[in-house]
Amino acid sequence: MSFQLPTKEHKAEYVEKQFDRIASRYDLANDAISFGMHRLWKARAIAELCDGVNFENASFLDVCCGTGDLALLVKRNPRAKHVTGLDFSENMLAVAARRSQKEVQSVEWIRGDAQALPFADDTFDGAINSFGLRNLTDLQQGINEMARVVKPRCRVINLDLGHSEVPLFAPVFAFFFAHIVPIIGEILQKDKSAYTYLPASLTTYPKPAGITKIFQQAGLVDIKHIPLALGSVALHVGTVPERSRSTNQ
Ligand SMILES: C[S@@+](CC[C@H](N)C(=O)[O-])C[C@H]1O[C@@H](n2cnc3c(N)ncnc32)[C@H](O)[C@@H]1O
Repeated sequence: MSFQLPTKEHKAEYVEKQFDRIASRYDLANDAISFGMHRLWKARAIAELCDGVNFENASFLDVCCGTGDLALLVKRNPRAKHVTGLDFSENMLAVAARRSQKEVQSVEWIRGDAQALPFADDTFDGAINSFGLRNLTDLQQGINEMARVVKPRCRVINLDLGHSEVPLFAPVFAFFFAHIVPIIGEILQKDKSAYTYLPASLTTYPKPAGITKIFQQAGLVDIKHIPLALGSVALHVGTVPERSRSTNQ
């Protein structure tokens, strides 16, 4: 692949501009490249987020919320009182805000950096990130921040691409991702480069065991990895322990 990933120091600016560019048709492209399956994966991730939560006044955080899929899904549960979506792309947030107005869902949309969350320790009853972690400059800092703002005994969830090793499926998926996805991006978004970045970004993203390690280093416990879509998608669940603050800060 001749595509050059941005250097660490330029990554944030590159990623922000890219999502600002593709925001208006992001949802359409997402449905096309995942054959609509991202909806099922997200529903599964939300089920893990809400498992065991006492919903009385519960508040949730969707980090790298993009156009707001997860935040809106959580808010559809009438018992989820406060839902916040955070992203640094103004245009993605604008789409999210329009969607929530249409659905009459009151979600708070905040522009900010996932690596320096503007919230106090122990604020949320759960935090989730889908397909965002890969885009951060410092993955560990992203998970550390989620663990910091989530209350003890509550969950941190990450849903992102995996590295399928299933014979026959893995090479077909790799071909689809590297060669077909950029064409879909070009047709639907008139932006081949954003959808060439997508498979390229996976080359530097850790395998599920590496994400588990990042969860451990953030002080999370009861960590589980749930492979989805034959391992091409990885769902990670971790719980903030009673005394996480002394171990991960
Ligand atoms: C692939 S999209 C995922 C959006 C949404 N979570 C979903 O699953 O459809 C990645 C999102 O992460 C956001 N993002 C990337 N780096 C970020 C950062 N450092 N802080 C906040 N948002 C960031 C991008 O702007 C983009 O909206």
